[in-house]
Amino acid sequence: MTDIFTKEDIITLAIETSCDETSVSVLKNGRYVLSNIVSSQIEQHKKFGGVVPEVASRKHIENINFVIDEAMREAEVDFGDVTHVAATYGPGLVGALLVGLSAAKAIAFAREIPLNGVNHIEGHIYANFIEDKELEPPFICLIVSGGHTHLVYMKDYGEYEVLGKTRDDAAGEAFDKVARTLGLGYPGGPEIDKLAKIGNQKSIDFPKAYLEEGSYDFSFSGLKSAVLNYLNSQKMKNNPIVVEDVAASFQKSVVEILVEKTIACGLEKGVDKIVLAGGVAANSGLRQLLEEQCKQHNIQLRYPSLKLCTDNAAMIGCVGYYDYIKGHRSRLDLNGVPNLKIGQRI
Ligand code: KG4
Ligand code: ZN
Repeated sequence: MTDIFTKEDIITLAIETSCDETSVSVLKNGRYVLSNIVSSQIEQHKKFGGVVPEVASRKHIENINFVIDEAMREAEVDFGDVTHVAATYGPGLVGALLVGLSAAKAIAFAREIPLNGVNHIEGHIYANFIEDKELEPPFICLIVSGGHTHLVYMKDYGEYEVLGKTRDDAAGEAFDKVARTLGLGYPGGPEIDKLAKIGNQKSIDFPKAYLEEGSYDFSFSGLKSAVLNYLNSQKMKNNPIVVEDVAASFQKSVVEILVEKTIACGLEKGVDKIVLAGGVAANSGLRQLLEEQCKQHNIQLRYPSLKLCTDNAAMIGCVGYYDYIKGHRSRLDLNGVPNLKIGQRI
């Protein structure tokens, strides 16, 4: 053990394998990242235009031991220094989840240290605690990723009230699907974001689904169909398609509905902080509009740096740490739960 930590420090070894990143991190006292290794499989899935579950599981198995070794080496710790192990057990692809969870269980069993199963969506929220050491709940969090779109009131550590969520596609999924129909690469979100910067966002009037009055839920499938219909009708009329304009107009519709509902939640709960989380939190249009709106309403906005927005094990370790200090322990027969709900503890 190096002298950067003492016997009183809690050292978390965290593992994340819920989708297409094999990631392992070592943290000190929950918020200080000693290492955060992310091995992405994006190149393997690109040719299929999305994540292939069987390929993801196989790659996790090939990678996991190397990524654990690298994270421990970079953090300059050995297994004897580790206080407890945290691992994502849901939501996600069950075959992928099981790889990281099994590795975590093996370490916990062999070293006789506690295991903390972690909810991946909560992990995205906690990425903000790593970025901003002073940040404390309560706040409103908008979690927008490839698999999830949630508006959550986080009252305290481990205490959440889900105010709204998507009824169909997740925001990132809508970005990825629209990008695919535009012939752009995978993942599509960053590609659309790039093109949207040079396109005219007022050129096409795509719909926004508000749903019932007062609802904080989202729906993106109508918008996705509207983009598809627009592209088909332009092709039938032999009209040119300006990809930048489609990207900018689509992004505007997604961003406006996300921001309007997030601000409404903030005002309803009377919070002074809103935090962004998940891969789509990297979107420049979303950050800009939410920043403007927060300023107008005297609300502070926080979002993680790009590396912590997308899937990584440090955010999982942060949740695991807070669960650990609250006394929560997972059993060694914990299973992967593909549809695990936020706030649920098994
Ligand atoms: O959180 P994440 O890494 O994985 C999940 O847990 O789903 O999020 C990945 C998603 C993808 O759908 C990707 O297209 C989207 O985040 N994304 C973006 C941007 N960067 C990543 N979407 C819009 N704009 C971006 N700049
Ligand atoms: Zn994620």
